[in-house]
Amino acid sequence: MTRIDTLLAEMTLAEKLGQLTMTASGYAVTGPIIVGDSSESIADGTLGNLLNMVGPGPTREMQDLAKQSRLGIPLLIGLDIVHGHRSLFPIPLAEMAAFDPALWEQTAREAAREAAADGLAMTFAPMLDVSRDPRWGRTAEGPGEDAWLGARMAETKVRGFQTADLSSPDALAACAKHFCAYGPVNAGREYAAVDISERTLHEVHLPPFEAAVKAGVATIMPAFTDLNGIPMTAHGPLLRDYLRGQLGFDGVIVSDYNAIGELIKHGVAEDLPAAAALALQAGVDIDMMADGYRKGLPVALERGLVTMAQIDTAVRRVLRLKEQLGLFDDAYARGATQERPEAIAGRRALARTVATRSITMLKNESQALPLAPSLRRLCVLGPLADAAEEMRGPWWAAGVAENHVSVLAGLSAGLPGVEIHYASGVGIRDDDANGITAALELSEGADAILLCLGEAANMSGEAASRAYPELPGQQRALAMAAFEQGRELGIPVIVLLFSGRPLIIPELAEQADALLACWFLGCEAGHAIADVLSGRVSPSGRTPMSWPRALGQVPIFFGQRPTGRPENPADYYTSKYLDVPNDPLYPFGHGLSYTQFAHHDLRVSPLVAGEHDHIEVQIEVTNYGEHEAIETLFLFTRDKVASVTRPLLELRAFGKLSLPAGESGTLNLSFPASAMRFLGADLKPVFEPGEIEILIGPSADRAQLMVQSIQLQA
Ligand code: NOJ
Repeated sequence: MTRIDTLLAEMTLAEKLGQLTMTASGYAVTGPIIVGDSSESIADGTLGNLLNMVGPGPTREMQDLAKQSRLGIPLLIGLDIVHGHRSLFPIPLAEMAAFDPALWEQTAREAAREAAADGLAMTFAPMLDVSRDPRWGRTAEGPGEDAWLGARMAETKVRGFQTADLSSPDALAACAKHFCAYGPVNAGREYAAVDISERTLHEVHLPPFEAAVKAGVATIMPAFTDLNGIPMTAHGPLLRDYLRGQLGFDGVIVSDYNAIGELIKHGVAEDLPAAAALALQAGVDIDMMADGYRKGLPVALERGLVTMAQIDTAVRRVLRLKEQLGLFDDAYARGATQERPEAIAGRRALARTVATRSITMLKNESQALPLAPSLRRLCVLGPLADAAEEMRGPWWAAGVAENHVSVLAGLSAGLPGVEIHYASGVGIRDDDANGITAALELSEGADAILLCLGEAANMSGEAASRAYPELPGQQRALAMAAFEQGRELGIPVIVLLFSGRPLIIPELAEQADALLACWFLGCEAGHAIADVLSGRVSPSGRTPMSWPRALGQVPIFFGQRPTGRPENPADYYTSKYLDVPNDPLYPFGHGLSYTQFAHHDLRVSPLVAGEHDHIEVQIEVTNYGEHEAIETLFLFTRDKVASVTRPLLELRAFGKLSLPAGESGTLNLSFPASAMRFLGADLKPVFEPGEIEILIGPSADRAQLMVQSIQLQA
């Protein structure tokens, strides 16, 4: 008999249900505050998992309690470590802008090390929900608009969190969430129902999760939402049949916070026992916070809605996860050793690199940036300039505000010799515009104005949908006044924009001399910003989402399908708006540097390819500007004629090249021809012969792409 068999044979129903339950504990600087009666439940073996507890001391105390329980089963303790633990990295959407899988993996690795040193064994990340709607606040947590990119994020994050050996004391169990299709919530409103086609589900929303499963993700969390009439927490066809059946996922499915109880409000269960039965039947192993399993499953058993065998299957999975994490061998291994100061310093250095690489320069006219070496006086305005706390972004885990470098602090350190005059002028979202005039007076005698504008960190993330995803409060008024002032004084106005999503900012785009998307950059935000503004580093971030010109364009994304009436100014009855162009303000992939690149000599081989071939693409890149910089190129395909319509562009690869001024290099990219398979009319994969275009360039703006056609043959 295995350890798990022996335990199962000995466990009471209450002990089994304890293993299927995860409860929150608050924590404070003074020590843990267990919500309700959790300590007692841990000690009597009727609670097996915790969330939101941090620190070697508190986690050890809880493991002590679990050890004293009748069977001594160790606790699984998890937290949302979404973009760092104590040392916060840029939010996921920002980090995607770095388009650097090695960095994505490293930040997950470092976050896991830091969290494991705090006694944790699980993170509720990565968040893999593709989002094409900036109204949805959770856009900040995920990979952006593209499914293929989401899949790459999934692989790197799972590897980074888990390593090849989950039992290692610095590994965390990852949790791919939120399964699935949470992004297209109706009208961008958080927690609303989702209604999408089967094709979109399979083409856009499932691939990142499939990649996570292939990468060996230990756990998966169903989304809160209703998908086409079935709440995901009770979605047998997707959880049981697709995830477990088709993909072979045998890890733990953990519900979202109270999601089992919420099945009652969804209107698919009349009470908690019925809700618990639905979730268990669908394949959910751990009930987070609803207490539906502990309270509901005994009744569901009596009613004959579930069987003990189903409960045992779930318990087995949870115990197996604990075994894989090495918790049975040593529940104290995580949190046992204090981190070395060099490890912490190394993490900060990484945070600075990633933050620098995430900054996305959307506009830079008349070379407003980098700041001239002759610059003596800088006027810094706006509510995000002196806002260390906001730099944390929406999921700050155990990150404290004091650990964060504000823009002002970063500039003071990074621009010695520059006199900085600062006023916030307005608050982030309040309606008081009285400070604008006095703030602008500081620009007299300045060489440039730096505006630090945007959202507060908690205006994106969970429960943070916005019907007007634009500058909140009186910030627009401050910006307009500053542009006017800049024109009068003949000095540039540079805008740093902080947000967890693309914002609708047509006026900033038009009037700013330079505009940088700074997302939320984490603990090293200010230093990274100074690195870029000063020119020590050329910006290299590329937006992982299209920026709409107007809210009416949403959802806007490069992978749209063609229309039978493509826009044609000479023909009124074509696909267009009367009041705004069709194209985005900034396309997917857009991002400038301090130099200029030319792309030439595109070579593709083979020109006739079968399903098992690899398509190799080479292109020469020349830096003909004056700064060393990184160029990122994207490789798309377009299947011109197929039995079902194919998207106008499909992302297949991207690559980067760092080139000193005046130098050239070759970028090699490739993708398997089998990637051209698609779901036919019957939703079964097909590989169809015919012409495809290979398109390569610096963004999804078709006008900037070089094209070469090749033939696919059966
Ligand atoms: C609710 C969120 O939807 C989920 O992403 C998170 O992991 C849980 N709360 C736990 O904090």
